[in-house]
Order: sequence, then structure tokens, then C-alpha cells
Amino acid sequence: MAELAEIILDGKSYKFPVITGTENEKAIDISKLRDETGYITYDQGYKNTGATKSEITFLDGENGILHYRGYPIEQLAETSSFLEVVYLLIYGNLPNRAELDSFTNRISKRSLVHEDMKIILDGFPSYAHPMGVLSSLVCSMTAFYPESLNPNPTDEDMDLHIIRLLAKMPTMVSWSYRKSKGMPFNYPKNGLDYCSNFLQMMFAHPTESYHVDPVVSDALNKLLILHADHEQNCSTSTVRIVGSSQASLYGSVSAGINALWGPLHGGANQEVIEMLDEIMASGMSVASFIDKVKKKEVRLMGFGHRVYKNFDPRAKIIKVACDQILNKLGINDPILDVAKALEEAALKDPYFVDRKLYPNVDFYSGIIYRALGIPVNMFTVMFALGRLPGWIAQWKELRANKEPIGRPRQIYTGSVKRDFTVIAKR
Ligand code: ACO
Repeated sequence: MAELAEIILDGKSYKFPVITGTENEKAIDISKLRDETGYITYDQGYKNTGATKSEITFLDGENGILHYRGYPIEQLAETSSFLEVVYLLIYGNLPNRAELDSFTNRISKRSLVHEDMKIILDGFPSYAHPMGVLSSLVCSMTAFYPESLNPNPTDEDMDLHIIRLLAKMPTMVSWSYRKSKGMPFNYPKNGLDYCSNFLQMMFAHPTESYHVDPVVSDALNKLLILHADHEQNCSTSTVRIVGSSQASLYGSVSAGINALWGPLHGGANQEVIEMLDEIMASGMSVASFIDKVKKKEVRLMGFGHRVYKNFDPRAKIIKVACDQILNKLGINDPILDVAKALEEAALKDPYFVDRKLYPNVDFYSGIIYRALGIPVNMFTVMFALGRLPGWIAQWKELRANKEPIGRPRQIYTGSVKRDFTVIAKR
């Protein structure tokens, strides 16, 4: 017999179905709650609210488990290429050789952006934050491809928008960086793999030959995979809610980029490095900084997570990778020692233990990005590059399932005024 949850309100009993996911997670289906009872649920920050059913990513925060389409993140990060993972997330299965080749080829062919995008870039001051520039460029794709505004695209058209966005994102990301440096833009090189092509667009100097260091492109590949999806987080929920109004893919992803930018979400990777640099520059001890955190004067950025309450599996992989990559590149970055000392001190301190605060994906990723030569204000942009396939897969799933427009309710707590005098009647 189907499991039911009983809710008693004003002495009356109501029964609602219980839904069970494939990994045995449970939910009470309250979609008929208001119709039947007149009540709504109150859940600020959606801490207990399942907004959708999804086949893309499974996450168990208590046990530090993360799967993309059923595959453990540890395995994918160790063995796959980023484009394989992109394909997996968006199309639901790992590609065979022919599928991967055709997918790679379709992406390579569309990696050029419209030359008029340079005019848009020209309008930004060179000190503009590249996240703002990137979200504007992605949104501007609605102008270059107005057919993307069709709320009912065919499957073929939708797939073309997806390929276009995947293909042009590295070009737009690298151009937002080159703009901030006052450097000429580099064009994509189709013979190179996704990561190497991106690196040459970022760093190749017009007057010198550029060699992609495989250590750097492998590290980038791993980081992008680890960022590729994370179910219904703040930016992904933003993409889904914008997409639910039948806004275009480009408009929805542009909104997701802005949500990711905030320091409590993807912007934390920039904040972490700035925090570590500040600790070093001020000569403050790790113990004094931890004291400041405990007095709630500052947050320990890169620590804590809404769903991981034991450990973040991505942070575990990144910490190991961080040591390996810095070793391979022969870099000795003293902020890595500060980060490790902070982690060690926090993990033994009751303030952090009681609140289940552990390093998240952003704690060590910035140290790797810095070792790869990526400037600090580009860290969140790198996160966006990695998260793109997740946003796309979630947007595609929402549209395929014809999910209704997202529209939460509220409890009104403002004043109630009934009697008033009309001063002047128009
Ligand atoms: N440093 C110090 N204290 C913290 C931290 C932190 N990083 N994170 C949470 N806390 C404390 C809070 O002050 C609160 O304490 P209280 O119970 O005494 O009031 C308690 O832990 C619970 O914190 P909430 O903010 O309620 O937890 P929530 O789930 O809402 O927030 C979040 C999660 C936003 C990630 C939070 O841990 C945080 O701000 N972390 C730092 C920013 C960060 O690293 N963000 C990246 C997250 S990963 C990602 O989005 C890609």
C-alpha cells in the first residue's frame, strides 16, 4: 500500500502521499495541501523543500555522496574528460567514441562568437568585474540568436542553442579576461581539446608561441568536472525558476551566472583567497582569526554548506589535487599552509564541530586556480564555466517535463488598514 503522511489541522486529519526517490530519499507530496486545507508551508531558504523531481544529480549531504546520472563524482573526476561529463549530464548517458567525437566536433564548429560582441565588450570599463561582463555577454546571445526567444522550440532547435552556448562560453570567458587586461582577443583553435583551447585563448601572447602545459589542462579538466552540477543549489534553482517562465536558455543561464556571483555561493572562491591573503598580510595568527570567526565578526569563507553536514566530497578531491598540482608545477604557495592550518584548527574547534561546518568546494579550488595563473577576480567565472552543463541539463529537464512556472507563496506580515480618508479624488 502506498505510504501516506497524516497532517492534523484544526482537529481534522488530511493524508498526503509520500514520494520515495531511487536512493530512498523521502518527501511528502503537499501539492494539494492548500486546495484541501487552506494552509501553505513556511520554509525560508527552502531548507526542506523539494522543488522538483530530477534524474540528473544525486547528493547525500549526511554521507558526503555526489553522483552525476548515477556515477560517483570521484570516478568521473579521476577518469573522464570534461566534455564526456557535459554529455553525460545533458543527454543522460556517457557517450561512446562516435558520440563523443560528433559532440566535440559540433562544439568546435560553433566556438566563434559574433564579431559584434567586441562592441559590447568595448562598452565596459576595463575594471568591470568579469562575472558581470560574462552574464551580459551570455544574455546578449538572445540578440544574436533571436530565434532562441521562441518559447516552444523544436528539440533540434533547443539542442542547437545548447551546443552554441557550450561552444561559445570559453570564448566569452576568455574575452572577458583579455578585456580586463587590455589584451587583444584570441580566437578558438579547433584542433585543441576543450581545456587546452580555453587556456590558449586566455594566455597566448600575440607575439610569442604558446605551449599548453598538460599538468595545467588536466587540473582544469578536473576542476570543471567537480563543478559541473550540484542539483538544486542557488544558481541552478535560479536557472530553473527563470526557465519556468519560458525565458530563453541564454537569459536563464545569464541569471544563473548572477546568482552564482554572490559571496555566499560561487563568489566564495574569490573571497577565500582574499581572506587568506589578508591573514598573511596582517600577520594575524590562525588562532586569532578563528576567534574573530567565533565572535561572528567575519565568516570563515569556504567553510559550511547548506546540504553537506559531514564533508564535501569535492573538497576532499580538490585538497589532494591541490598538493599534487602545486608539486608538479613546482609552486610553493604559502597560503596553502595557512589554509591547511585554518582547516585543522576549525575541525577541532567545538564552534565548527557543533555546527557541522567543513571545508566546501571553494576552500582549496582558488589555490589551484591561482597556481594555474588564473587571476582572483576570474575564479567565479571559472566556476561558471564548469557549472554551465549542469545549468543546461537542469533547464532542459524542466522544459522536457513541462514544469509549471515557479511561484512561491508568502505569509503577509505587514499592517492591515481598512479605514482611510480620501484627501483628493482624481
Ligand atoms: N563561518 C562561520 N560560521 C558559519 C559559517 C562560516 N563559513 N557558515 C555557517 N556558520 C554558522 C552560522 O553563523 C550559524 O551559526 P548560528 O547557529 O550560531 O547562528 C550556523 O553556522 C548555520 O549557518 P547558516 O548560515 O544558517 O547555514 P546555511 O545553510 O544557511 O548557509 C552557507 C550555508 C551560506 C554556505 C554558509 O555556511 C556560509 O556562509 N559559508 C561561507 C560562504 C561559502 O563558503 N559559500 C560557498 C558554499 S559552496 C557553494 O555555494 C559553491
